[in-house]
Amino acid sequence: MSRSEPPAGRHAVVCGAGAWLPPRGVSNAELTRRLDTTEEWITSRTGIEHRHLVDGGLSTGDLAVEAGLLAMKSAGTSAVDAVVLATTTPDRLCPATAPDVAARLGLTGVAAFDVSAVCTGFLYGLASAAGLIASGLADHVLLIGAEAFSTIIDPADRTTAVIFGDGAGAVVLRAGNADEPGAVGPCVLGSDGGLGDLISIPGGGARGRSSGRDRTPNDEYFTMRGKDVYRHAVHRITDAATTAVDRAGWHLAEVDRFVPHQANQRISTAVAERLGIEPARQVSNIARVGNTAAASIPLLLAQAAEAGQVRPRDRVLLAAFGGGLTWGAATLSWPDITAYSAIGSSPAAVPAA
Ligand code: UT7
Repeated sequence: MSRSEPPAGRHAVVCGAGAWLPPRGVSNAELTRRLDTTEEWITSRTGIEHRHLVDGGLSTGDLAVEAGLLAMKSAGTSAVDAVVLATTTPDRLCPATAPDVAARLGLTGVAAFDVSAVCTGFLYGLASAAGLIASGLADHVLLIGAEAFSTIIDPADRTTAVIFGDGAGAVVLRAGNADEPGAVGPCVLGSDGGLGDLISIPGGGARGRSSGRDRTPNDEYFTMRGKDVYRHAVHRITDAATTAVDRAGWHLAEVDRFVPHQANQRISTAVAERLGIEPARQVSNIARVGNTAAASIPLLLAQAAEAGQVRPRDRVLLAAFGGGLTWGAATLSWPDITAYSAIGSSPAAVPAA
């Protein structure tokens, strides 16, 4: 990725943020009634107490529309000329979900595409959106992270079913200057496809289909080698975050808020300790929403901004890790905006027939 600065006035600047959670809340206690697990195991190993899950036909596109509407309300504009959707759980394998979301938001005709980088998806999407703006291809980009992650989870697999949740977060980015509040700083992205089997859905893709093997329902469920992922995650997030802060010309001591992907509270804490970022500078919502993969960072940003935990001009450090393997980090200064988050039903979330 090029590290050259965009021309003056073509820097990506956050100007709106929103988040939406599906109405159905599920506690750890509820999970213990159908899985061989305990509330104590889930809380002590992950920090998760509760999550929201889709039901009744609600899909990723529905969540994305809701978060997108709230982000555009926050930005005070519906004049968006590109929609980028980061997701692991598109409504269909083909076509991408972003064009449908754009159309439902009244944005027929704009550029719209999905980004697939699992839990790092929002940061890959942020870099893509910033590039659209820097190149002059777009003046306003709606960037959404949305997941109906529970739809790819084996309901009988206690190692994943207790971790993941559903939800969506979104930001609106506009063309602006590097020194104004909301400006996105350097994005650092990486991958290691040699470790692709640590997180995967084995079936449903071209390799499985061309193999001639009989498919089983389990082929289409998400699998994760959690302990190996954990080890790589701590190391990669720490490195990426350190590099992003360095490229921004900041010191880690100057970071006001660390906003990591909400994979596991133990991972976030271990990374923050390595970075020397004490608890008062960390924000977290994993206890209430679980791991929402590509939705996790924008969901946390919108909720934290709404609650006053992230304030205008705060120096914010974002970092994530996920399947691929992929990882990334980025800096931004927080803008002076009103962010909106909501839980529950809304007329726009009626599933498509
Ligand atoms: O979102 C980005 C990508 N994902 C991640 O970053 C996730 C990274 N990994 C993790 O967060 C953690 O590895 C997990 C939360 C997935 C697991 O925590 P852990 O401390 O690494 O546990 P473990 O996998 O080593 O399992 C410990 C024990 C095992 O039993 P034995 O072999 O010690 O007898 C598991 O079978 O815990 C057992 N176990 C459970 N027990 C009760 C696994 N899941 C459960 C469960 N309830 N839900």
